[in-house]
Parts: sequence; structure tokens; C-alpha cells
Amino acid sequence: MKEEISKVRLSYGRAISKRQFMDRFYEFFMQSSPIVARKLAATDIEKQQELLSQAVNMVILFPQGNRIARNAIKRIRESHQRDGLDIKPEYYSFWVDSLATALAEHDPDFDGELEQAWRKVVQDAIDYIIEGY
Ligand code: HEM
Repeated sequence: MKEEISKVRLSYGRAISKRQFMDRFYEFFMQSSPIVARKLAATDIEKQQELLSQAVNMVILFPQGNRIARNAIKRIRESHQRDGLDIKPEYYSFWVDSLATALAEHDPDFDGELEQAWRKVVQDAIDYIIEGY
């Protein structure tokens, strides 16, 4: 996992340095399903993108047991649960697929192997968030 995490961190650094990356991630996510579009309809996009770019960092740092990341993901787990934002477990694949599509567009080194590393790394935080549903 350690090796995947360092690859993913570099990949995120390359992607996030491109101005359009978060816009595209958010756009793909909104288009991924009418359910996602409906859930995010009332959201302030600029604010949400800022929060999301930080949240991806927390998702990446989560598997290593980073304390700040653990706390951040715990908060997301609480806000996204059934009695809160009510984000069903099956919606998280839309999030991951949209992230992968945006990465493929913006990280010049993105390939199948890197995609697998990304999917493996983000799954830890997602499993933890989903467990709290
Ligand atoms: C690992 C995946 C995800 C991460 C890291 C993440 C992160 C966040 C963060 C940091 C916020 C703002 C603070 C908060 O309310 O906790 C947020 C809000 C939100 N998220 Fe997520 N999220 C994820 C997946 C999803 C999915 C799959 C949906 C499905 C539609 C979703 C829908 C929302 C909504 C509706 C809000 C509230 C927006 C608002 O305040 O207007 N999230 N998310």
C-alpha cells in the first residue's frame, strides 16, 4: 500500500496543478447520475470544490493512519450517513469513477496501473465512510 500511496500522491499533485482538474471532476460527478445531480443541486460549487480538493488529500492519507486524515474522514462519515446527507453506499462508485476520468484527462502519466493504485488507495476511506451509513 505504501508504494501505491506515494504514486497516488504524485499523481494528485500533477492533476491538481492543472486549473481545470477540480472543475472537471465535479462536472463528471454531477453528470454521473441524476441522483448525484439532485443531491448536489443546492450546493455552492466553488466552496464544494475547495472542500473536495482538501478531502481527496485526506482520503489519500487515510490508509496510513494519519491522525488528521482519520479525523477528517470521520467527520465526512458522520455528515454523509443515513440521518445526515443520506449518501447511499452505491453512490461512492460514481465518485471514484468521476475522479478516475478527471485524472485520466489531467495527469499525463495516468495509465491502467496508476488507476488501480488510485482505486486501491481511495477504497480504504470509502469502506470506512460506508460502514458508518
Ligand atoms: C469519498 C468520497 C467523498 C468525499 C471525500 C466527500 C467529501 C465531502 C466534503 C468534505 C463535504 C463538505 C463537508 C461535509 O458536509 O462533510 C461534502 C459534502 C457533500 N457531499 Fe460528499 N464526499 C464524498 C462522496 C459523496 C457522494 C458519493 C455523494 C453523493 C451524491 C456526496 C454528496 C455530498 C453532498 C450532497 C454534500 C453537501 C453539499 C452542501 O453542503 O451543499 N458526497 N462531501
